[in-house]
Amino acid sequence: MSAAPHVVLGVAGGIAAYKAVEVCRRLTDAGCEVAPVLTEAATHFVAPLTFSALASQPARTSLFGDATDPIPHTRLGQWADAIVVAPATADLLARYASGMANDLLTATLLATRATVVVCPAMHTEMWEHPAVQENLATLARRGVVIVPPGDGRLAGGDAGPGRLAEPGDIVAAVSAVLEAVREGRTPGGPTPRLRDLAGRRVVVSAGGTREPIDPVRFISNRSSGKQGHALARAAYDRGAEVVLVTTTNRPAPPGVTVVRVDTAASMEAAMLEQAASADIVIMAAAVADFRPKAPAEAKLPKADGVPDIVLEPTSDILRELGRRRRAGQVLVGFAAETGEAEERAVAKLEAKGVDLMVANDVTAAGVGFDHDTNAVTILGRDGGRRVVELSSKRQVADAVLDSVAGCLE
Ligand code: CTP
Repeated sequence: MSAAPHVVLGVAGGIAAYKAVEVCRRLTDAGCEVAPVLTEAATHFVAPLTFSALASQPARTSLFGDATDPIPHTRLGQWADAIVVAPATADLLARYASGMANDLLTATLLATRATVVVCPAMHTEMWEHPAVQENLATLARRGVVIVPPGDGRLAGGDAGPGRLAEPGDIVAAVSAVLEAVREGRTPGGPTPRLRDLAGRRVVVSAGGTREPIDPVRFISNRSSGKQGHALARAAYDRGAEVVLVTTTNRPAPPGVTVVRVDTAASMEAAMLEQAASADIVIMAAAVADFRPKAPAEAKLPKADGVPDIVLEPTSDILRELGRRRRAGQVLVGFAAETGEAEERAVAKLEAKGVDLMVANDVTAAGVGFDHDTNAVTILGRDGGRRVVELSSKRQVADAVLDSVAGCLE
């Protein structure tokens, strides 16, 4: 790789194109030689001249070069150490995924062996459309690094998932790719850190189960499902095919297949079925240990007095998953404790035959049920111990997946 890394910055036609100006500036500041390539639609949002002024090379927009640069797409494709497309619109993703080459940007994407980073940005409805998700899955399978959009303000005053990732995160992803290329780790392929679960099937459970007393009442617990949903999203972002078995009504993370369940029994059926073909199984759900033995078929009338509710144990799903585990499958449990978290978690790790047990003391401030933050200790069957201080549930999810990646054969 050249001393100053060569980066092609592709800009597609979306409102977020103005943020690509900042990405361009930061890449140049980071010592990259930047060649901007704008689609025709992008020029309606930002002027090529803006990029030409900030980048190392003039911005290009045409597939048809000039006397000094007659075939720009092959030259740029071969020149690049990495290509980043920010923003990547639904249209650009569709054309790239289907191998079209009808403008300079898509032709360059096809004419390169460099790692490509795409940063999608679009309205939530478009982002969640199966066509977009399938195109992304296709690109991810081919080793394209995806920097997922964030949640926030969109064009026209709307808000939701689909907002272009922050320029700092985009530049960090490009830097990670360039570092991998420099170290000769995966030339032209995905970076291990960002796409280390590509080709893996991950099944995650989330939320508290609900055990009916009668058709309107149930016994449950305080689990919100946030940590399980964060794990599913993180695993998807890292390239895995993800199934999320959840008791909550939270929106499905984009790209993740959701199976909705309610009782421990329905969760067990779904988990055993899904786990049979999984490489990684994570039980983040809070499963009820007891359920009413004979739930009433009709609502129990108050006039009948206080009912005697007889409980019976549910089956331990994680223990059963441990018994049925496929060779090479990585199994992870969560232990929410209210004291002596680590000792109790180690005992559960052994009793349930898992590879990793994630322990948290749910009585600590900002930790556990319904918070957006968590603090955990990840305990390994091999005696490994990793402390994750108070951080977002997404960061905890990535730390757990880092440990999972270390267990994979
Ligand atoms: N678990 C499960 N099935 C159950 C109970 C728990 O699969 N019936 C799983 C949880 O999803 C979690 C792990 O086992 O990954 C530990 O759950 P926890 O409630 O902490 O442990 P229990 O075995 O229920 O023990 P205790 O209630 O005594 O703490």
